[in-house]
Amino acid sequence: MDVIEAIKTRRSIRSFSDKPVPRELIEEIIETGRAAPSAGNRQARDFFVITDTGTKQKIVEAALGQDFIARAPYVVVVCANEERIANPYRDRGVTLYCIQDASASVQNMLLALHAKGLACCWIGAFDEKAVSDIMSLPSHLRPVAILPIGYPDEVGREPAKRDDDVHWL
Ligand SMILES: Cc1cc2nc3c(=O)[nH]c(=O)nc-3n(C[C@H](O)[C@H](O)[C@H](O)COP(=O)(O)O)c2cc1C
Repeated sequence: MDVIEAIKTRRSIRSFSDKPVPRELIEEIIETGRAAPSAGNRQARDFFVITDTGTKQKIVEAALGQDFIARAPYVVVVCANEERIANPYRDRGVTLYCIQDASASVQNMLLALHAKGLACCWIGAFDEKAVSDIMSLPSHLRPVAILPIGYPDEVGREPAKRDDDVHWL
C-alpha cells in the first residue's frame, strides 16, 4: 500500500478482534511514531504501551467510558514532553510544539497501523489528570492521545467531509 492509498483508506476503528498482535509489530509501529518530524528535532513526545488489563480498564473510565479501548490488546498513550521543549522554545514550545510533535507521531502511527492491517482510533476525549494519575506521569508529561490497537473486527465507514475548508489566496 503506498502512502496516498493509506491516507485515503484509513478509518477510525472501534471494534477489535481476539487475534493476538505480535509485540514486534507494535515496536515497529512505535518506530514510525519516532520517525515523525519534531520542532528543532527535540522529539518532545514519549510513548507508553499499556497491556495490563486493570490499567486499560482504568483508562476506559478516564476516557468517559469508551469501553472499546479495553478490548484492544495494546493501548498506546502518546504524551507531549514539556520539559524537553521548554529550552530553547519556552512558551511556544510548551503550549504548541510538543503537542504538534505528539500529533505528528500519532498520524504516522495511524497510517502505519492501517498499512499493516491493524486498527486504531485516535482517542482525545479523556480526563487528562485522571490518565496522568493512572500512569503516574511526572508533571512535564501531558497525555495527548490514547491509541487502542488491535486487529479490526469491523469495516470503518468513510466519514463525510466538509466542502468549505480549502482557501486559496
Ligand atoms: C484530536 C482527536 C480526538 C478524537 N477523539 C476521539 C474520541 O475520544 N473517541 C472516538 O471514538 N473518536 C475520536 N476521534 C476520532 C474521530 O471521531 C474520527 O477521526 C473522525 O470521526 C473521522 O473519522 P476517520 O478517522 O475514520 O477519518 C478523535 C480524533 C481526533 C483527531
